[in-house]
Amino acid sequence: MACRVQHSMQNSLWFLSSSRFYSTIQSQNVRSKNPKYFCKKLLSSSSFSKGVRHCSATASYTDANINHSNAESFVLTTPLYYVNAPPHMGSAYTTIAADAIARFQRLLRKKVIFITGTDEHGEKIAGAAAANGSSPREHCDSVSQAYKLLWRDLDIAYDKFIRTTDSKHEALVKEFYSKVLANGDIYRADYEGLYCVNCEEYKDEKELLENNCCPMHLKPCVRRKEDNYFFALSKYQKRLEDTLTENPDFVQPSFRLNEVQGWIKSGLRDFSISRASVDWGIAVPNDDKQTIYVWFDALLGYISALLDDKEKPNLQTAISSGWPASLHLIGKDILRFHAVYWPAMLMSAGLSLPKMVFGHGFLTKDGLKMGKSLGNTLEPTDLVHRFGSDAVRYFFLKEVEFGSDGDYSEDRFINIINAHLANTIGNLLNRTLGLLKKNCQSTLATDSAIAAEGNALKDTVEKLAEKARKHYENLELSSACEAVLEIGNAGNVYIDGQAPWSLFKQGGSAFETAAKDLVIVLEALRIIAIALSPITPSLCLRIYTQLGYSEDQFNAVTWNDTKWGGLKCGQVMAQPNPVFGRIELETEAKNAGDSTNKASKKMNKTPKTQKAVEA
Ligand code: MSP
Repeated sequence: MACRVQHSMQNSLWFLSSSRFYSTIQSQNVRSKNPKYFCKKLLSSSSFSKGVRHCSATASYTDANINHSNAESFVLTTPLYYVNAPPHMGSAYTTIAADAIARFQRLLRKKVIFITGTDEHGEKIAGAAAANGSSPREHCDSVSQAYKLLWRDLDIAYDKFIRTTDSKHEALVKEFYSKVLANGDIYRADYEGLYCVNCEEYKDEKELLENNCCPMHLKPCVRRKEDNYFFALSKYQKRLEDTLTENPDFVQPSFRLNEVQGWIKSGLRDFSISRASVDWGIAVPNDDKQTIYVWFDALLGYISALLDDKEKPNLQTAISSGWPASLHLIGKDILRFHAVYWPAMLMSAGLSLPKMVFGHGFLTKDGLKMGKSLGNTLEPTDLVHRFGSDAVRYFFLKEVEFGSDGDYSEDRFINIINAHLANTIGNLLNRTLGLLKKNCQSTLATDSAIAAEGNALKDTVEKLAEKARKHYENLELSSACEAVLEIGNAGNVYIDGQAPWSLFKQGGSAFETAAKDLVIVLEALRIIAIALSPITPSLCLRIYTQLGYSEDQFNAVTWNDTKWGGLKCGQVMAQPNPVFGRIELETEAKNAGDSTNKASKKMNKTPKTQKAVEA
């Protein structure tokens, strides 16, 4: 970073001639550290009495300045992704959302453990490996690595990455299976039914389309007859019903609760938890002719992930490191596994239930769920390389209502990113810094608190930051973005109304007003840089460093720093340098012989690589 420009107070005095400014310098304090926020919803767990270790994050997250000794815990998970094919934008979506939530919870100074990973066993994976001509192990290593690389490219700062082929995970699955068996909930029986390999699930014939096609994957299910071990799900019907009645927030968004209650009410059938025909899996304890069904294996990853590699791999140790999870983030297609099967399995093993399961909607392309099985995916690596991680994160979190489905279109993507990130935020910063450089040697003339006395913009910004906080807490990520964007809009309206460029020319008190106006707008941008950092972390770091702070200072901010008054008199800003370049459309006429009018109708639009400038 090229902007370690925060001058000492004394160094800044030369620039100010007015005695009023001088006195504000003398009265300024060091940035205060703040009391913690307490989050009212179910997400704020009070039941973690055991100390949850904070794990070192990969990617960009650093927690050097956090004292976690009495902080509340927040453990959240993404699904563990199947490695039958490389990640696509649908799988990236859950992880981007989880990362934004984890970053927000860290701003609240919670002890966050953000878990992700890969689901590597089963027929579907073995089939994909064979089709590639590789062994299942080699195949899993390579696709699991592709997920890790994508998470790095997308600025995903997870704390734990679990692979279901990790030996610690296998040990835990076997221990869990034995507990459920000891509780009398596993029995052996024959089963015959229609199986969807892509769902890795026996299907109820009533749910199927013509030719016994799975409604999700549009591929025919196959008839199977197997001698399997079964989990006695039906025994848990009443307890599950009661749990949902007592904790209606367990399933989110609330409109998905009815669906889950409906499934339970219609009668729960025991499900088979082993496969006789699948080798690539964890052997059933005491019967190595069968392997454990992928879901009875993978769900345990949420617990085994909590183990450190050096620890003895047992349930007790893992549980004491952070179970129960505060939040499972999943797509709506796997709600039944998380809101019905998983709680019943945990009940059987005598373990606590997670606090919340949030089922988001699908990203669609031409109205169909984007997915590996249908082959209609959007390449996230390609999007990141063309537009940058901030643009990708922002678009999907802002433009898809979290919980509902959302469609992708490149035109909309470019328009939104240019309007919101390049114009409303990036350009506001750039032009304000340009004016400050020209007229005030890039140095703030007064404290932001003093500059904003009696100014309505301060109240507006504080209210919007508070609104964003509430939305983040309620997992309303799009509305959180909207609230922050409104701060940018208010800043633009303010600067345009005040026209400091003319005031500077007038000199005297008009000059002072203009200098104050710039401080006010820059303080609003400082607040934006914190409040939007869960969504666009790299962009926000660039904004913060342009405001004269170091990267360490950025990493140490808390949500409480969104209170007005952070920027102080004498702070020196970096040289104006666009923090977010517009995505340009290169337009080329398809046919050189076309007339101008005709040609403009047939434009081939190729977006240029985004040129975000690192400050
Ligand atoms: N392996 C299981 C999860 C086991 S969790 C213990 C699995 N894997 S998956 O790779 O098929 O899907 C992982 C997640 O990606 C799911 O939450 C799924 O909803 C999500 N998505 C897959 N395609 C999607 C879209 N097109 N849109 C949004 N999310 C979608 O299921």
